[in-house]
Amino acid sequence: MAASVLLFGCGGKQPQQTMLRPVGPMAGRIEGLWWFIFWITLAVFVLVIVALTAAASTRRVEGALPPEIHPDETGEQRRFRRVAVCTGLTFAVLFVILVYSIRTGAYMNALVSKNPLTVEVVGHQWWWEFHYPNSDASMYVVTANEMHVPVKTPVVLLTSATDVIHSFWAPNLQGKRDLIPGYQTAIWFQADQEGTYRGQCAEFCGAQHAHMAFNVVAETPEKFRAWLEQQRKPANNPADAVAQHGQEVFLRGPCVMCHTIRGTGAGARVGPDLTHLASRSTIAAGSLPNNAGSLAGWITNSQAIKPGNRMPPISLPAQDLQALVKFLRSLN
Ligand code: CUA
Repeated sequence: MAASVLLFGCGGKQPQQTMLRPVGPMAGRIEGLWWFIFWITLAVFVLVIVALTAAASTRRVEGALPPEIHPDETGEQRRFRRVAVCTGLTFAVLFVILVYSIRTGAYMNALVSKNPLTVEVVGHQWWWEFHYPNSDASMYVVTANEMHVPVKTPVVLLTSATDVIHSFWAPNLQGKRDLIPGYQTAIWFQADQEGTYRGQCAEFCGAQHAHMAFNVVAETPEKFRAWLEQQRKPANNPADAVAQHGQEVFLRGPCVMCHTIRGTGAGARVGPDLTHLASRSTIAAGSLPNNAGSLAGWITNSQAIKPGNRMPPISLPAQDLQALVKFLRSLN
């Protein structure tokens, strides 16, 4: 229970990932299109099965029929008309679906507004980086795998990738969008209900594509502002001697070559920014709940958990590992 509260926040609810429960205008349109296609294809399926059953249960004439030398002209014409009508209907239905689908696609940009929240999304093998840009460098926030947004506010995501093509997909909020290295695109969404919504990379991007998830936390504007304020602060100073030792282990060890902890000497950009690591509910892009056990396991041998990721196994004496975990757990 404690773990699930830790993992999924105070509500104790699992983050949702379904396009059948939209919580924003874009996702609502997509759901409408989905049901439209569902009912049409269901009707077509039933009609085909009925026709097939009728044809299969027609009684056959015993024995071979004599060859039809003079085919019955009117019968031929009737059959031709039936086929023509069915073909025409198929085209009409597909055309209606096409128009509905194009209109839905066009609506995906309808939210474009003058005053959105801007979040930059960068896809990495295999984790997500979220930037909250600010012209004042000291207010610039970088976090990983957990995006916070205020409810009822248009959000524009500026998406890109560093290595291969990924795809941002939080089905409760919007459709998919490919993240392309060296090419920034924009996608809009709005969350109208508070909650935690799970997202998933939707473009095959290598061995750990399946373990490339994220959470979108939609919260009241007040809670969001408080979160953003907290994220803007530099990291907490170690509160006691053990955490202090943990910080030294971090800064002297290999960790510092890949990670940033603002307020310390660590400023590398290969792995996720850890300045407020403890404020996040999961680690390793949604692979593990963020707790001491997961962190210790991940540091010791992340290759056993997520083979192929860019973090090497790090063997530390038990005391150093415990101190390091304590230090990381204090970065809220
Ligand atoms: Cu990133 Cu699949």
